[in-house]
Amino acid sequence: MKNQFDYLVIGSGIAGLTFALKAARSGSVAIVTKKDRLETNTNYAQGGIASVFGPDDSFDLHLQDTFNAGDGLCHPEVVDIVVKTGPDRIKDLLELGVAFNRGADPNLFDLGREGGHSRNRILHAQDMTGKAVEKVLMAAAESDPNIVIFENHLVLDLVIQHQSMKTGSVDLYQRDTCRGAYVLDITGEQIHTFVANAVLLCAGGAGKVYLYTSNPDVATGDGLAIAYRAGAKLANLEFVQFHPTCLYHPAAKNFLISEAVRGEGGRLIDRRGRAFMEKYHPLKDLAFRDIVARAIDTEMKTTGDDCVFLDISHLDGQFLKERFPNIHQRCLSLGIDIVKDPIPVVPAAHYMCGGIVTNPSGHTTIRNLYALGECACTGLHGANRLASNSLLEAMVFAHVAAAECSEQIQSWRSRILPDVPDCSAKIANQNSSNNEMVMIAHNWDVIRRLMWNYVGIVRTDNRLVLALTHVLQIKMELKEHMPKIPLNSDLVELQGLALVAELIIRCAIQRKESRGLHFNVDHPQKDDSKWLKDTVVRKNPVEEFLSSVRFTTDEHVSEQGQPLAFLHR
Ligand code: SIN
Repeated sequence: MKNQFDYLVIGSGIAGLTFALKAARSGSVAIVTKKDRLETNTNYAQGGIASVFGPDDSFDLHLQDTFNAGDGLCHPEVVDIVVKTGPDRIKDLLELGVAFNRGADPNLFDLGREGGHSRNRILHAQDMTGKAVEKVLMAAAESDPNIVIFENHLVLDLVIQHQSMKTGSVDLYQRDTCRGAYVLDITGEQIHTFVANAVLLCAGGAGKVYLYTSNPDVATGDGLAIAYRAGAKLANLEFVQFHPTCLYHPAAKNFLISEAVRGEGGRLIDRRGRAFMEKYHPLKDLAFRDIVARAIDTEMKTTGDDCVFLDISHLDGQFLKERFPNIHQRCLSLGIDIVKDPIPVVPAAHYMCGGIVTNPSGHTTIRNLYALGECACTGLHGANRLASNSLLEAMVFAHVAAAECSEQIQSWRSRILPDVPDCSAKIANQNSSNNEMVMIAHNWDVIRRLMWNYVGIVRTDNRLVLALTHVLQIKMELKEHMPKIPLNSDLVELQGLALVAELIIRCAIQRKESRGLHFNVDHPQKDDSKWLKDTVVRKNPVEEFLSSVRFTTDEHVSEQGQPLAFLHR
């Protein structure tokens, strides 16, 4: 079955919804999302959104803090756009009805502080900022007649049209254009072809590639995997941000203790009650995240303890309950009263600073394909993301991309679109018996453990090469056995996860230095003479030919091949 829209948005977090709401003024929008519509990384964001609103703050200070975090790799023109247009995007949210906390003076925001910020500049809705934003954006999208939301729809691959112009045997140009996507309707057990004038990858992060993560189960890096398979350029995937403080408790799956807790005065202590951050950085508990996460890792390795503790019990109990109601409740449900008890915490994979390379309009290296939010690499974060800059980045580039698309849409509509062929893979249904589910579950676990142990906070050359060898072995196994297994969402996600793991390792192996979030014991120094640049990964032409779902047209003849079945890649 074919679905035709002006815009196909993949993902229903802040990037996808912001784009959809703005683009719906110029055309029809489909949002596909692989689980429930609210099950997004955005929904779990606690801390808030950084933007210049404080009386003692300035664009220059926010620019400088972002550059300092990025450790030499931020793209200045991109940082400029985000910082300077950020306040307008916050105003968009206010107009839609997001209620950020106000201070004693109701005309001023209650601005929080997080690591690396030289001023208080984090707008927040208690400790559930993402939820407040997602709720308001979703309500607006649901009431927009130009937007249709498809839940339980998992994208398998993009549809890429390859065009070439030849004179004799000489290629004058070749270009790839994205025409839509093949999407698995998980509950309907069908593959649908979505055709669109522009496709927006807003598929979020890849925290699930690591054993311990603050991310929800949906964060399996699908956007990165499908963009890479389509031939897009990706960069800086070695820069995985580990959040220093995730709750350490056997029953607490992925629960973050927001950096805002340290912003309000929380201190990291060891099991004996000794504060340790002054040993590592003058900014102590509010140093950049890479520094705090590595300090905790060192403390745990040298003491042999399973976790460290975050203590906020010296603050007023009533204040804590009002400022952090979510954290207070969740901890209390597990027997930890943050008003009295130190909170056991460990670092966990939190945010992917690299991603699909885009220009300052959010456009990727494939025509009519955009990437927004965590799956994109705009150049804002460089080697380390400044806390609470990500929701801002997602909104800023969703706004710019929507403006660009709205200008183009009339000319896009006037083109004669090629007839996109359907995809014919064998899909698992409820009656399919699958003896190989054990292989899927086993490999999920192996990859996540491998990445945590070998490609984690502290890396070595040897461990990176071993990790690559293991991941390539798993990929070969999958390639051999996947065609025998009916398609299901676990299998699709596993295939993406294995690819994303490989790409992270390949970027980490390329960078022979330590910078920002990438710390390699064998190259402990920063090397500006060689590495003041992004690491890039892109499929080589042979791999591209063998693996992609693509069809070819040229300027004169329109010849369509059948797409390869997804499973046979
Ligand atoms: C947090 O609340 O600590 C997370 C904020 C962020 O990752 O930007």
